[in-house]
Amino acid sequence: LRTAAVIPAAGRGVRLGPGAPKALRTLGGVPILVHAVRAMARARAVQVIVVVAPPEGAAEVRALLDAHGLPESTDIRVVPGGESRQESVRLGLAVLPDDVDVVLVHDAARPLVPVETVESVVEAVRGGAPAVVPGLPAADTVKSVDPGTGIVTGTPDRSLLRAVQTPQGFDRTTLAKAHATVTRDVTDDASMVEQLGVPVLVVPGHEEAFKVTRPLDLVLAEAVLARRRA
Ligand code: CTP
Ligand code: MG
Repeated sequence: LRTAAVIPAAGRGVRLGPGAPKALRTLGGVPILVHAVRAMARARAVQVIVVVAPPEGAAEVRALLDAHGLPESTDIRVVPGGESRQESVRLGLAVLPDDVDVVLVHDAARPLVPVETVESVVEAVRGGAPAVVPGLPAADTVKSVDPGTGIVTGTPDRSLLRAVQTPQGFDRTTLAKAHATVTRDVTDDASMVEQLGVPVLVVPGHEEAFKVTRPLDLVLAEAVLARRRA
């Protein structure tokens, strides 16, 4: 049985400001999406990759991946995405081959995740955890706020918080069930599994697995790449 990675890459990247869809912007001259696909393909366990492209951009993404010469040994599929991240992931899950039993879901917007992080997530799922997320201790103090008044309503104990990343890894049946039953809006896949009452395990994340969200993140990503190439 094989391990697959679904890479949602269909977002516009509104917070990054005007320009091409985020996944198609470049880092070190290479599209962010290509970095993300390579990061997954580098993990020996990952044999199937499903890229969820911007809704009108599937052909362009296919051409881009072919042009960047990805490993022949990896089965790479491209499908058009949807309106929300959740829908995009669901569209990606729909084209997984039958012989896949472990699924990673990895944001294209985390192009620099180290292979060790990917492998540790796969190992934890293969070791029996139905859902696994990489996470880091929260750096900032986090407050809940009343959005109407701007008044703070609480300060959760920081030592109990983790900032979670991707790839998030799942037993395929568990993830499929979550996507088939949970309709509430969520920002990651693990929270859907949590709603089923299935335990989600946190393993150590990595600071280089940060998400490219705002313009400053591009500066950081370029610096990390330059350091790797030095
Ligand atoms: N994503 C997706 N389909 C969507 C929305 C998001 O596949 N309809 C993907 C993005 O391409 C990204 C990942 O989900 O790789 C994480 O989302 P985020 O960082 O929020 O990216 P965007 O939604 O593109 O950015 P923004 O929220 O700033 O518009
Ligand atoms: Mg978004």
